[in-house]
Amino acid sequence: MHSRKLLPLLIVFVFTFSVPAQVYHQHGMVVSDNQVASDVGAKILKKGGNAVDASIATAFALAVVHPQAGNIGGGGFLVYMDGDGSSTTFDFREKAPLAATVDMFMDENGEYIPMINHNGLLAVGVPGTVAGLWKAHQQQGSMPWVELLQPAVELAENGFPLSFALAQHAERFFNSDEDEFMQNFFTNAEGRPLKMGEIWKQPALAETLKRIRDNGHDGFYKGETARLLAKHMAENGGIITEEDLAKYESIEREPIRGTYKDYDIISMPPPSSGGASLIQMMNMMEQVNWDEIEFNSTEYVHIVAESMRRAYADRAEHMGDPDFNPEMPIDRLISKEHAQNRFTNINWDKASVSDSSKFGQLYDGKNTTHFSVMDKDGNAVSLTYTLEWSYGARTGSPELGFILNNEMGDFNPVPGETNSRGRIGSDPNLIAPEKRMLSSMTPTIVAKDGKPYLVIGTPGGRTIINTTFQTVLNVLEFDMPINKAIEAMKIHHQWLPDRILYEGDLLSPDTRKALEAMGHTLEPRYRLGRMMGIVWDRELGIFIGAADSSSPDGGVSGY
Ligand code: GLY
Repeated sequence: MHSRKLLPLLIVFVFTFSVPAQVYHQHGMVVSDNQVASDVGAKILKKGGNAVDASIATAFALAVVHPQAGNIGGGGFLVYMDGDGSSTTFDFREKAPLAATVDMFMDENGEYIPMINHNGLLAVGVPGTVAGLWKAHQQQGSMPWVELLQPAVELAENGFPLSFALAQHAERFFNSDEDEFMQNFFTNAEGRPLKMGEIWKQPALAETLKRIRDNGHDGFYKGETARLLAKHMAENGGIITEEDLAKYESIEREPIRGTYKDYDIISMPPPSSGGASLIQMMNMMEQVNWDEIEFNSTEYVHIVAESMRRAYADRAEHMGDPDFNPEMPIDRLISKEHAQNRFTNINWDKASVSDSSKFGQLYDGKNTTHFSVMDKDGNAVSLTYTLEWSYGARTGSPELGFILNNEMGDFNPVPGETNSRGRIGSDPNLIAPEKRMLSSMTPTIVAKDGKPYLVIGTPGGRTIINTTFQTVLNVLEFDMPINKAIEAMKIHHQWLPDRILYEGDLLSPDTRKALEAMGHTLEPRYRLGRMMGIVWDRELGIFIGAADSSSPDGGVSGY
């Protein structure tokens, strides 16, 4: 197999199995996939910046210190709720370029060309991150933009010590057959891969960041950066032009809202499927008599998996970019009645069967990063952004120094083809110029008595919705402290393929046997999700945070 395909599998992480301690701060907190980036955000909070200011600084810092997913070459979503309870979201999902076509990933016989939508410059969507952070700053920021960019500029220009995890990636990329940009991504002046603890400087990225620092949105979408990116595309077979970049705008959207018992759920609407599917599953969970079901029991896994199966079938059939699909029945999907209909056709003794030929059958019956921020006034940001795979398209322009996304792979590549391996071919998420590809990112804020209570999210591709869902359920229903809720056993079912992924060491052999006897197919995974969460305990006046132990460089920072 070509190493390009193997690489995502080869990039392994260091895991620990003890539950990391919770971290407590009184005035504000940032929890991200990288301790250096969390520290950058916390310093902004300490200087008087609000949660949005800290998020912008953290996001740009992650683009330097967490290049596998932190980015300016990708896109994402920011969910914001202020301490008094009003909320909004910023959609900065990538868009298909103007020259994109519905069949661009198929050959002349109408056959899908394997992996073409994940590899190389055709897989790149028009990046949205800089536009989204700029728009959030214009609407909600309080500190000068330049002050929020400066820490990232300094990290890129002066460098920082390479972590163990990044040093492993450096070695692998150097010895891979990726393009020259990736092979040399982590090398020093002598062209040797950097080792743990050595200082990694990124001069080209520093110059790109300075243009964003000095010129804001236009420092990326117009001028030198846009020119260089369009030139790189034209010279290497890509289709993104200066016009694509000049036309890109982030969109402020109404959050999607639901409830679970006394709690309010505020999350991301389409083009993410995350919020709608999360609310749909939480609605189904409201139907369960939890006095009779123990966490991690056979019944628990069965009922949670069956709820996931139903929500993902709806996702596959109905969801896409709302600007191209004005008739999407999102209100119906997140209604309590719909959840009740779905729930009543679950057989408590037997697994349902997912059928790729029939979305409606149940009717009658890697790599992204997330961070959570709260400030002294209880304003909360839940932000997930992505390059799609770890290191995205694993290519970029040496003159710009940042990695490009491969987000075009999130569109449905073959019209009409939905199969048991999990490929979806429904209309709402087919490729069209300027359309945003459907996402699973689920940055979420749960409110109690109208104020932010839990800020949560995770990377993990299509597993994102489910791991967020279970972590929210763990806190709200099972009263788990945030660190335990994050580390507790997770499963994933996505309708198709019809199987339950489970965290291998955390589900007992007896439970697995009982589930198999009910007709479920089970497959172990090492870990699911990489949650970054904060709980605001208003009675104690304290922020309680935890970073998933599966994040090798992650950490909590605050004051
Ligand atoms: N790239 C992962 C997602 O948007 O769901």
